[in-house]
Amino acid sequence: MSHLSDQDPELFKTLEREINREESTLELIASENFTSQAVMEMAGSVMTNKYAEGYPGKRYYGGCDFVDEAENLARNRLGELFGAEYTNVQPHSGSQANMAALMTFIKPGDTVMGLDLSHGGHLTHGSSVNFSGQLYNFISYHVSKETGRVNFEEVARLAKEHQPKLIICGGSAYPRFIEFEQFKEIADSINAFLMADIAHPSGLVAAGLHPTPIPYCDVVTSTTHKTLRGPRGGIIMMGKDFENPWGKIAPKSGRVKRVSELIDSTVMPGIQGGPLMHIIAAKAVAFGEALQPEFKIYAKNIIQNAQTMADEFLKLDYQLVSGGTDTHVLLIDLSNKNITGKAAEYSLGKAGITVNKNMVPFDERSPFVTSGIRVGTPAITTRGMGNSEIRQIVHWIDEAISDPENEVELALIKSNVSELCSNFPIYVH
Ligand SMILES: Cc1ncc(COP(=O)(O)O)c(C=O)c1O
Repeated sequence: MSHLSDQDPELFKTLEREINREESTLELIASENFTSQAVMEMAGSVMTNKYAEGYPGKRYYGGCDFVDEAENLARNRLGELFGAEYTNVQPHSGSQANMAALMTFIKPGDTVMGLDLSHGGHLTHGSSVNFSGQLYNFISYHVSKETGRVNFEEVARLAKEHQPKLIICGGSAYPRFIEFEQFKEIADSINAFLMADIAHPSGLVAAGLHPTPIPYCDVVTSTTHKTLRGPRGGIIMMGKDFENPWGKIAPKSGRVKRVSELIDSTVMPGIQGGPLMHIIAAKAVAFGEALQPEFKIYAKNIIQNAQTMADEFLKLDYQLVSGGTDTHVLLIDLSNKNITGKAAEYSLGKAGITVNKNMVPFDERSPFVTSGIRVGTPAITTRGMGNSEIRQIVHWIDEAISDPENEVELALIKSNVSELCSNFPIYVH
């Protein structure tokens, strides 16, 4: 019996059901992954007990020797992984990382550009229901209808017209490499800051399989729990620290501060209090894993699996936004399949296959219904699945989407999915 089962059988049962769900179904949500047991051991450790407001060596609390060690390891390993001179591992989430980066580089009311949410952007890139859209004057750019890739003619035109102080590149449902170099050219032409949000492909960037934003961007944010396969959280990096860049950040008072100091103080005390030391230590464990040669093989397999999946879907006449993928994610437009994203998500759920409905560029349906689904390969690749499993999975998806109300068929797929999953256990019990 575990402590939890003894003390709180009700929640223990809930946990058991979640373990069973993760083990016995196919996780195709592109933003999810399965961390290692070592990462979970650290995330579930006594480090959760420690208050450590501040940064290593400069805390507001005593007793921080060992959490300092953990945070320094996290920062150093992260810097090594991405070639970044400055790292901050304290943001509780990707959204907090974005908030801290925006609040450091620009002021409320300033103009910013980001990829439209329905074209693959993220809530924190200017959605009106998010702090970003409420605090700043966001101008959205889009992908082109023909290519499904960022429309750089539009980006250049909007940049010239609106003179944003900052441009964000990256997003949540963009299947192609983020074009850092092209964004940099446009940002430079109007003397704007360039921020990359690599929440999705950061594991691929770390493995050297996706271009790196570091030489092009003033600031880079990411989550740690997607392709990077760490605990849930956020990070902020800069390739090079710099001082009061081009006079764009006015010092509030006294000496001119380095941007690293400004970011640190925006994270804490600006928007967060005590850091989650158990999560920061678990990030250090995950960054250590990502530095190993096996992680490169893992990242390579993620992309190969996504490309096999794309080929298989194309053979079955599915429309992929941008025609395919360079990364771990596919955005499937279901308009020619007589089903909405919402209905597809529901039926696939009944078949033991977890995906999320997703708007596709130029979608006429609402975000609650959508015309598409987003699928990704990081989690099933962690389980060790490869080409033949991917092909089988695509055929199951097609069967479920082609006959979404056939309960018998969906139940049959679910049992086949469960059998497949039992051959690829996630955790050794
Ligand atoms: C591009 C991008 N940025 C930021 C985030 C926010 O991360 P979090 O959910 O940890 O706040 C996400 C999460 O999906 C994302 O895809």
